[in-house]
Amino acid sequence: WPLAGRAATADRGDAPDFTAKEIDEQPAAARRLLDGLLGRLADGRLLTDLGLARPDRVRLVACGTSRHAAEVVARVLAVEGGVPSRVVTASEADLAVPEPGTLTMALSQSGETADVLAALDRWDDPVLALTNAPRSSLARRADAVLGLGCGPEIGVAATKTFTAQVIAGVAVALAIASASGRLAPARLAALEQVLDGLPARLAASAALAAAPAAALADELADRPGAVFVSRGAGVPYAQEGALKLEELAYRWVEALPAGELKHGPIALLGPGTPVVVVGAEPRERLAVGIAEVTARGARTVLVGSGEDADLPVCLPAEEPPWGPLEAAVALQLFAREVTVRLGHEVDRPRNLAKSVTVE
Ligand code: G6P
Repeated sequence: WPLAGRAATADRGDAPDFTAKEIDEQPAAARRLLDGLLGRLADGRLLTDLGLARPDRVRLVACGTSRHAAEVVARVLAVEGGVPSRVVTASEADLAVPEPGTLTMALSQSGETADVLAALDRWDDPVLALTNAPRSSLARRADAVLGLGCGPEIGVAATKTFTAQVIAGVAVALAIASASGRLAPARLAALEQVLDGLPARLAASAALAAAPAAALADELADRPGAVFVSRGAGVPYAQEGALKLEELAYRWVEALPAGELKHGPIALLGPGTPVVVVGAEPRERLAVGIAEVTARGARTVLVGSGEDADLPVCLPAEEPPWGPLEAAVALQLFAREVTVRLGHEVDRPRNLAKSVTVE
């Protein structure tokens, strides 16, 4: 079931680089995807449309950025449907135990990542592919395909395919939760409404964060490393923000749940160390962690919708089970701005390939 919608092209237009263009394309990509998904989640209709039965459990297999999207999906399955799931790092799939009644969701923007394809050989379960390449090896191997419909992503570091994978994966998770009878229709309708507002919030977040991201990059580009923290649903976004900075700006970055800071990594902090605190509203949930960080003279960078945010974004009033996806856009902008300051090639970072076709 490849989604229609190929508005994006491989033409850079006025954008300074493809990564900038693809960051900008996220609201439109999200809109197209949501238009194809909303209204099909109740009672698991989306699953039926894809030719899939309701699973008892879900295995999510992915690498890199796609693995962060998988973590988000796993959380939604648990919180809204009580559906057990497991995120399997594709290169570590040899440790995964086969379980009956499992649906394997393979997340891969390229559909060509060798570790993901090899992992699928280990199980006999039905496979649902979430990919931006509906004619890829993964799409051919899968029993069902949910296309992301983002158009070409040229920048090596994934941006619009990440937000699209989160949206598509959340839709599947909500459909499974609804089909299993654990997600009440009224709650599903409310969540669909929050999803519907996402494109506008992504656009607003990009507009809000653009200038502060540039100013923060001026201030922080020369710092040798950083720590990214969050809590709960925000943790995968902290990991993704950190990965963007590593991939593009070649900085060592530690990403972890805020509560883990005190169990070791706090030793890394010194005067001026950037500590990026992602989402996690209400802020009180992070107050102790922030106080610990500030006491060591680290430079706290708050990413959120509060008035005190250093990197402001537009989040819904109440945190949805998929967490602060809007923060991902601000963190992409920040990583790109740091990269430009350092004079690195934004679209083609050293040592990396858009898809890794060897195990
Ligand atoms: C490569 C890229 C990463 C990407 C990963 C998974 O390592 O450099 O940016 O997240 O592959 O790619 P996939 O196509 O499977 O999503």
